[in-house]
Amino acid sequence: MAPSKRIVARVGELRELITFHNDRYFGDDDPEISDADFDELVRELRALEAEHPELAASRSVLDAPGAPVATTFAPVTHRLAMTSLDNAMDVDELRAWGDRVAKGLAGQTARFVCELKIDGLAVSIRFENGVLVQAATRGDGKVGEDVTANVRTISGVPVQLSKTSASPTATVLEVRGEVYMSKPAFERFRQEKLAENQVRVAAGKKPQPVPANPRNAGAGSLRQKDAAVTATRELSMWAYQLGEVQGGPAFTSHHDTLEYLQALGFPINPEVRIVDSLDEVVEFCAHWQEHRNELPYIIDGVVVKVDDLAQRERLGSTSKAPRWAIAVKFPPEERTTVLRDIKVSIGRTGRATPFAELEPVVVAGSTVSMATLHNREQVQLKDVRPGDTVVVRKAGDVIPEVVGPVLAKRPKDSQPWQFPTKCPCDLRSTLVQEQDVADTRCVEPECPHQRDQKIIHFTARGGMDIEGFGEKTVYKLSDAGILEDVGDIYSLTPEVLLAQGLGEVQSANLMQAIDASRSRALEKLLVALGIKHLGPAAAESLARRFGSLDAVASASVTDLAAIDGVGDVIAESVAKWFVDKRHKSIVTKLRKGGVRFDNVTVIDAPQTLAGKTLVVTGTLTKFGREEAERAIKDRGGKSAGSVSKKTFAVVVGNEPGASKVKKAEELGVPQIDEQAFEHVLATGELPE
Ligand code: IVH
Repeated sequence: MAPSKRIVARVGELRELITFHNDRYFGDDDPEISDADFDELVRELRALEAEHPELAASRSVLDAPGAPVATTFAPVTHRLAMTSLDNAMDVDELRAWGDRVAKGLAGQTARFVCELKIDGLAVSIRFENGVLVQAATRGDGKVGEDVTANVRTISGVPVQLSKTSASPTATVLEVRGEVYMSKPAFERFRQEKLAENQVRVAAGKKPQPVPANPRNAGAGSLRQKDAAVTATRELSMWAYQLGEVQGGPAFTSHHDTLEYLQALGFPINPEVRIVDSLDEVVEFCAHWQEHRNELPYIIDGVVVKVDDLAQRERLGSTSKAPRWAIAVKFPPEERTTVLRDIKVSIGRTGRATPFAELEPVVVAGSTVSMATLHNREQVQLKDVRPGDTVVVRKAGDVIPEVVGPVLAKRPKDSQPWQFPTKCPCDLRSTLVQEQDVADTRCVEPECPHQRDQKIIHFTARGGMDIEGFGEKTVYKLSDAGILEDVGDIYSLTPEVLLAQGLGEVQSANLMQAIDASRSRALEKLLVALGIKHLGPAAAESLARRFGSLDAVASASVTDLAAIDGVGDVIAESVAKWFVDKRHKSIVTKLRKGGVRFDNVTVIDAPQTLAGKTLVVTGTLTKFGREEAERAIKDRGGKSAGSVSKKTFAVVVGNEPGASKVKKAEELGVPQIDEQAFEHVLATGELPE
């Protein structure tokens, strides 16, 4: 069937778009859309071309792996083309590749080398008689750019190859690898740029664009016309493939070549694995997809290569890519989308946090429509504005973040965003910028937004843990004027909940959950009240020492501050909380509502360890880790995480931490086993 007009038009448009973005990515190091968005365009075009082969007459768009060479660097013709790799987007596509390999090898089994797919810039470095003579980027795969001077500045790239006695040095050796900027190096670089921008902004100048991610920063740093600038950037390289080779040892496998390169002094990624089956390849991919964020550099997938070089010959290449390798791509963690608006949310302490309202976009598998912008300063430094197209990032479990704007897509009439001067609540009270800190606050005690957040905090897991009391219920009940503060929770009735539109079952469950919370431990109640500076550990100390909310409320600052883990700051904050008349009314409501104020497990263990600090390392047989720490605390002792000269003893279990044992030895701190630990608990003395 002939393609419809719409399809012909879409194919034309996709080709335009791909060419444009390809140029921006490879030619300018300033991509306007994320890799994932680009890949989606390519996939769509590929699919349409496959469906309508008559439209695929000029497929050059998809066949060119790179952009035409930028004019700022001398062109270098690769003697051996730098081909790209085919992609597998999921396990099925990976297995399909495995099947093709098996078929191509007619029954021979293949070993695979699994490598991380480093998200950087590919280079080919040429050595003649052991001396670095040329380095080039990939460019369009045939002709790249001469970046010899720049590559020479990268620490870790040998400029003179070490002579290994075991293997003769090749007369010509082309080493291919990925140049990248590590995450810590990028963070340092970004901080430097942000600090520079702060100075610029203070001087009334426009801030300069800050690279959005390590890939752009790395590519931009390598492609500097002045190599002295490259030298100031912390670039690194992993070598992963040979190009042209003349002379030198004969290799039979890919892993031999990697070992040879390592012996010559090239950095070889330590995570390379040789495996015997596709199942193990799948496992390797799954492992790194989950753990990618633990690496100090960015990877966007895994590259799988057939190890045996004779088998590679047999498999050969297509016009675009070798058949003996595949790039397994991970789901994207960065996407571009439109920032609809910037608003502020008010926290329970009144802090105003700007956040971005985004055109919904799927990032790392979930839909993102909001992202925090942290504070006033961050918005100013990133210079994101309503209407901007922005890069949104979500790494692992991390909450989504707006990385920065795509300046090329900024609307002409765009204005820098101004932090609001009024609280978004109905009272419209004035927001106050705090001195010395980047925070802006609503200081109105009656602010309904603060009230709602306080109630949400009270019902949350670390506090009274009232299941089913979600944010929506809180908003509904407080908007209706039923909840003025957390004290009102305990006078709720099923009738009130039903009248507010909650279902019968939901109301019944909620009433039950509220009832269960009446007997929460005192330390949970203290945390739930949201007293400034009072965290769970100090709350626990207070609960144990005073035994009831009333005793805590009537304690003096001096009494409070005398407790282990409670300093002057917390003591004053606690004392101040209880004198506020609003809070007094909350306490009264909670009491009337039947909330227990004295639910503390009383410890009657003898205080054998008062004033003594112990460190537990490794696993014990009779005690779990928390139990051991509890046993120490119950006896008045302190359980610490590191050894110092004040440590009374280190309890050494199975597989102890080497650094703790070493430190104990250095400082002469006694090391005791589990049996001796029991003796210490009982007597407070080390056994004879
Ligand atoms: S091998 C013919 N190994 O990914 C084989 N490439 O999508 C050439 N890359 O152009 C490449 N890590 O820029 C290979 N361990 C690795 C890699 C890797 C990252 C890049 C490289 C390549 C692209 C292919």
